[in-house]
Amino acid sequence: MTAKSLLAALTLIGGATLITVLAAAEQAAPLSSALVQRGEYLVEKVGMCADCHSPRNERGEFIKASYLGGAPLGFTAAVPMPAWASVAPPIAGLPSMNERQAIVFLTTGKRPDGTTARPPMPEFRFNGDDARAVTAYLRSLGKK
Ligand code: HEC
Repeated sequence: MTAKSLLAALTLIGGATLITVLAAAEQAAPLSSALVQRGEYLVEKVGMCADCHSPRNERGEFIKASYLGGAPLGFTAAVPMPAWASVAPPIAGLPSMNERQAIVFLTTGKRPDGTTARPPMPEFRFNGDDARAVTAYLRSLGKK
């Protein structure tokens, strides 16, 4: 084999390897983006997380740049409520929990220190798959 044909053969093998790697990456992508899309649906259309966790402008519209970036609540309890949180913390990028802690929180209502979040944060009981999807979506947003 000449040096030239050896080079050609190596280029071919290299190219084939690259194609295999790219094909594998393409196969993995739809799975994780489907998870993020399901999370987006659960956060935006079912859990309505933005209602409390997103700041609004003076016209009551969400401020896009700080979507899910935490907000003071625009309402208070109408009856005495000892433990009431008046601020919803940022959840874009999930700054206060790692992935595992977030999944525990969303499936059991328990924070990493074992306490539950104060009202009006709903004590969600997502199933494991939905909690993973919500977590993947919130993490995909990055911290605001
Ligand atoms: C009705 C208002 C409301 C809605 C709707 C709501 N939250 Fe909250 N959330 C809060 C408030 C208020 C807190 C703070 C509770 C506290 O300080 O004890 C909170 C706390 C949290 C925390 C805990 C942060 C921490 O580190 O302690 C997470 C995570 C969270 N919410 C996620 C979500 C997700 C995800 C959704 C939607 C699926 C959602 N919340 C919907 C009001 C809300």
